[in-house]
Amino acid sequence: MRTENEHTIFLKDYAPTPYRVVSVDMDFKITEAVTRVRTQMTIEPRAETAPGTPLVLDGDGLTLDSIAIDGLPLMLSAYAANEAGLTLVEPPFRRFVLETEVNLKPEENKKLMGLYRSSGTWCTQCEPEGFRRITYYLDRPDILAPFKVRITAPREVAPVLLSNGNLIEAGDAGDGMHFALWEDPFPKPAYLFALVAGALGSITDTFTTMSGRKVDLAIYCTHGKEPECAYAMDSLKRSMAWDEKRFGREYDLDVFNIVAVADFNFGAMENKGLNIFNDKLVFALPETASDANYANIERVIAHEYFHNWTGNRITCRDWFQLCLKEGLTVYRDQEFSSDERSRPVQRIHDVENLRITQFPEDGGPLAHPPRPDRYREINNFYTTTVYQKGSEVVRMLATLLGEAGFRKGMDLYFERHDGEATTIEAFLKVFEDASGLDLSQFARWYLQAGTPTVTANDSYDAASQTYTLTLSQTTAPTPNQPDKPPFVIPIKFGLIGPNGSPMGWTGVSGGTVKDDIIVLDGDTITLTFTGVANRPVPSLFRGFSAPVRLASSLSQQDLLFLARHDSDPFNRWDALQTVTTNLMAGSAAGKAPSNGDIDALRQAILDTLGDTSLDHAFKAQVIAMPDEAVIARQIGANVDPFTVAQSRKALIGAIVGPAADRLSAIYEDLSINEPYSPDAAQAGRRSLRNGLLSLLTAGSERGAALAEAQYYAATNMTDRYAALAISARNWTPAALALLGDFRTRFGGDPLVFDKWLVASSQAPDEGVIERMRAILAAPDFPRTNPNRLRSLLGSFVMSNPAQFARADGLGFRFVTEAAAEIDHVNPQVAARVLTGFRILPLLEPKRREAARAALEALKNLQGLSRNTGDIVDRILAG
Ligand code: PHE
Ligand code: ZN
Repeated sequence: MRTENEHTIFLKDYAPTPYRVVSVDMDFKITEAVTRVRTQMTIEPRAETAPGTPLVLDGDGLTLDSIAIDGLPLMLSAYAANEAGLTLVEPPFRRFVLETEVNLKPEENKKLMGLYRSSGTWCTQCEPEGFRRITYYLDRPDILAPFKVRITAPREVAPVLLSNGNLIEAGDAGDGMHFALWEDPFPKPAYLFALVAGALGSITDTFTTMSGRKVDLAIYCTHGKEPECAYAMDSLKRSMAWDEKRFGREYDLDVFNIVAVADFNFGAMENKGLNIFNDKLVFALPETASDANYANIERVIAHEYFHNWTGNRITCRDWFQLCLKEGLTVYRDQEFSSDERSRPVQRIHDVENLRITQFPEDGGPLAHPPRPDRYREINNFYTTTVYQKGSEVVRMLATLLGEAGFRKGMDLYFERHDGEATTIEAFLKVFEDASGLDLSQFARWYLQAGTPTVTANDSYDAASQTYTLTLSQTTAPTPNQPDKPPFVIPIKFGLIGPNGSPMGWTGVSGGTVKDDIIVLDGDTITLTFTGVANRPVPSLFRGFSAPVRLASSLSQQDLLFLARHDSDPFNRWDALQTVTTNLMAGSAAGKAPSNGDIDALRQAILDTLGDTSLDHAFKAQVIAMPDEAVIARQIGANVDPFTVAQSRKALIGAIVGPAADRLSAIYEDLSINEPYSPDAAQAGRRSLRNGLLSLLTAGSERGAALAEAQYYAATNMTDRYAALAISARNWTPAALALLGDFRTRFGGDPLVFDKWLVASSQAPDEGVIERMRAILAAPDFPRTNPNRLRSLLGSFVMSNPAQFARADGLGFRFVTEAAAEIDHVNPQVAARVLTGFRILPLLEPKRREAARAALEALKNLQGLSRNTGDIVDRILAG
């Protein structure tokens, strides 16, 4: 199927519906064979609606069994119903109750949108457009209504019956059936609807809110998994307390329920009072979950909880505004993690993630603004740009307004828009009103795609003690956006004197400088600082104050100076990463690094390791080598990922070689004898130790044996998995045996199986694709489970560029062929895997052609989903 002509939806066409929904009553009758859904909705025309205007309800794959208005069945001529919707030709011109009935087959729903079954449990996923797979409805976020939901189900198979809001009644329904009645008093859009019915275990707790209300908390899971939910519960309570303290936000229902399910398309979902989670973001035990898993659980539990205010109480007017809730909520979860753990380490982690995932998206064929103005398939816009860049934009607002100003704006946002479905414009307006600033140019961050490049050039005149700093910005064209007027770029900065201490100035002219922030809002500014006693080294974009690429004229020596002396920990880290990335990119382009360069880098690493003022987690980030994707981006064009991987490894070898004894000694010293705890301090120590293991394995002869020994000796998953992954990535002599051991050791645990799939997909050897084909072809491979598919294929396309982008095209074809099969089952997963092809324009011509050929072949297949068609078309067009 060709998809070019498919309907594109534009933001400019937004219009409210002619009718609104006043309230919704639903009745689910669940049996093994079918689920009958009866919906009664009270509807009324809006004041401006003309009599006789048809009412058009969304549907997806539904068959209407009965329909009535105010209790009277409708005549056939009064409506038209099909799979895709229900139209009432001339509804009553007053408030009325529409009653419909449909039957669903959740067992057959493998798209995991709407009502489906996961390990026997009935559960729902409605964001963004899944509710229309449950009942005919005005399935859009600007339709808000209170819901009452009655669930009747067999008591044996479904003793637990949950929906949004508070439980108001429950009891026996005869014939082995029972029922529960839930009421959610807060008007909500249908995408926040949820229902769960199944035989589940749970852990419970309570939280007392700041005004003294007691909230019952529960986490539901498969029987036997209850002990694995403890960390998630602890994270939930800390999230609730944090949102009160930091943003003054209190929880609003009597209960807060979380359900962990095995089959889920994304990470988790913020349904009002009933969050549904991918179980990998709930379950954790030291033997089966890594420190990274624990941190992720904490972050996502917080994220979904925080949505209660930023997403649920205040929601989006339409899906173009997705970033209104997601960017803001990511900002909030990042702040939470910073407060709970280490702020600099969290910031480095988040920026690294942005550079590895969002920068490639923003610089490639799938680039789009945080608030897009068109889409063909909204599911393809749950992107790192909407989420992570969206968070960076909120962070810039906070930087420009200051902490107090930002809080004032947020308070106003909650006060002014509570209960509404609103827009990015309304969000910006509260900050304008709170601060008096004009944010109209700042708004471009939401409207324009692309990562700006900021160029910095400086000079110092000793005679006049004058320091001059010229800053310019440019942003390359992106799809549908050829021209990029300048952004408002906050540059947090400092000047550092020769002895490493901060330097002041007496005057500055040529641009806006407020305290430690330069605001670059034109194409170029030249700042002149007077009264500067010595030539300073500028430290720019402290804390990564804007999501840009910095092209600075700083020498390697200056960067190494910053790595040693900058008072800003982020820039200390970033300076060393820049030096390393430049050397690796240079070497991939045939410019071998000098011995002096390598010695300096090694010394910087050793000095960092020896610095007793720095914590382990921070040191681990400093010694981590840049990702291949970051090096490729630095090269910018005609990339051969195989050479990139080789140059990277060669440089690590050169750095590590003479320091191997020292590094192994530190590695040994860092071993932990206390019992495992996922806390930040212990996790930091492990991450440094495993960082050293990674350096030693990539860069010395002795590493492979150390990794093998660590693998077998490990008493927790963090150390065992690190040793496995490092062995696989470096394809050590023991790698295959370790993979084999890991597979059998944790045979039955699906989440550990995912780790095995990830590690397997990272192997750089020529045989990796053949092994992956065999894994996928195994008759018992769970091919409908998104976690399994993403662990194998997603991590291959994103983190094994040398094999994915093989010159012979085998990697590309392997992925498009697998995606074609998955597309029939779960189009969202197929489309997401294919986004890995966004590197296409970066590649050297031969690989580019091979990628293009694989995508063309996929595009020509019959019956491709809109999800996949959209991604393929955009990549080919870019
Ligand atoms: N809204 C979810 C979040 O918290 C993500 C999600 C989107 C989940 C669509 C499922 C489906 O980010
Ligand atoms: Zn979210």
